[in-house]
Amino acid sequence: MAQPLQAIRGMHDVLPAQTPAWQRLEAAVRQLVQAYSYAEIRLPLVESTTLFERSIGAATDIVEKEMYTFTDRNGDRLTLRPEGTASCLRAVLQHGLAHNQTQRLWYQGPMFRHERPQQGRYRQFQQIGVEAYGLPGPAIDAELILLSAHLWRRLGIRGLTLQLNTLGTPSERARYREQLVVYLTQYADQLDADSQRRLQTNPLRILDSKNPALADLIAAAPVLTDYLEEASQAHFAQLQAMLDAAGVAYVLNPRLVRGLDYYTRTVFEWTTDVLGAQGTVCAGGRYDGLARQLGGRDIPGIGFAIGVERILAVQAALVGTVQSPELHVCLLMLGAEAEIAGLALSERLRAALPQMRLQTLVGSVKSQFRQADRSGASLACILGSDELAAGTVTVKYLREERAQVTVAQDQLTDVIRDAVPDLSEKNGSGVR
Ligand code: HAM
Repeated sequence: MAQPLQAIRGMHDVLPAQTPAWQRLEAAVRQLVQAYSYAEIRLPLVESTTLFERSIGAATDIVEKEMYTFTDRNGDRLTLRPEGTASCLRAVLQHGLAHNQTQRLWYQGPMFRHERPQQGRYRQFQQIGVEAYGLPGPAIDAELILLSAHLWRRLGIRGLTLQLNTLGTPSERARYREQLVVYLTQYADQLDADSQRRLQTNPLRILDSKNPALADLIAAAPVLTDYLEEASQAHFAQLQAMLDAAGVAYVLNPRLVRGLDYYTRTVFEWTTDVLGAQGTVCAGGRYDGLARQLGGRDIPGIGFAIGVERILAVQAALVGTVQSPELHVCLLMLGAEAEIAGLALSERLRAALPQMRLQTLVGSVKSQFRQADRSGASLACILGSDELAAGTVTVKYLREERAQVTVAQDQLTDVIRDAVPDLSEKNGSGVR
């Protein structure tokens, strides 16, 4: 027999056993961004290709070789978003959200990059992004870093390293770039093919090379921080003072350049060594020039994005798996008549006890009792022909040594509430 159809390589299903961990992360994020007063924005998955070419940069891996780009039926060039920052700023400009005001926004959703799939690197992956607009000073840089650090604490994740750098302004970077090219050109014959190509197109990315043969050469290269003017130096110093005062540890990493071209000044990454090669779980920085590049007024911007699959992998490794919430009640419906009455009863129960997790069962008597035993539920409520005739339900306690009882159907809510402590009185409306 032919194999059933499979998901696209690098694109994954999140299976039912995994969704509780996703939901817990999403709930923690939702609560935290509210506490810091960030509002949610929902953005399209598809944008014009030009948006990403103009923002991420034509000479980046993403734009050169990783975008899912296609021409639609109108002949427009469109791209499945490889990241959220460009879309977010596009929306902010389009709707004037940062006009004479500041804006704190967050979003979540899938991103698409045609990378070589491996553990922790996928072609469809989920990001949670947080962005702030209209705030040029370092206080917001610190706030965003503190927010991310706060999230790790909430999730019980310890041991992440915060890597911090500044990329200066475009003019500072241009001066540095010139010197870097002069330095690297002396060793051009020692560079690998990728770095030789980058020497022409994007020399700063050579600093990020993972090739061990280039490590010494890169270590001795000029550093950008030596080319910063006073304002950029002051911004970076102030940010460090804020992080120090808040007790957030960081490592200054002058080789941290990021894979997207829009950054100015602050850049940072949270990394771990528990995931192997794909160790960056969250990354971001400031992009003060991007609004102008996209045709808008100058609007300072800064943000970060969390790789959800990666942070969940760290959490699973450090904290353990998150279990699905257990069932409270199984309603056994023995026979066709009982199924009719049982579905109506189950709806009344769910209306009366909105927090209750109830599953209705069908099938042979033997199979239903077996399902109830395996379900992990606290109670089995049995509706057979005798109960139907008498307007009752038989309640069996699956997790305690307690004799089963037969009660009137209109008393069932109280019996369930009594047996399942987490269904407190305030959650039930008392409707029968
Ligand atoms: P990025 O570094 O390209 O930045 O991605 C941010 C995070 O997304 C990475 O640190 C990683 O955790 C996760 N990620 C990236 N690619 C993959 C992949 N192929 N598979 C799994 N996870 C992945 C950005 O996207 C910027 N928009 C971040 C930002 C927001 N900067 C300012 N604001």
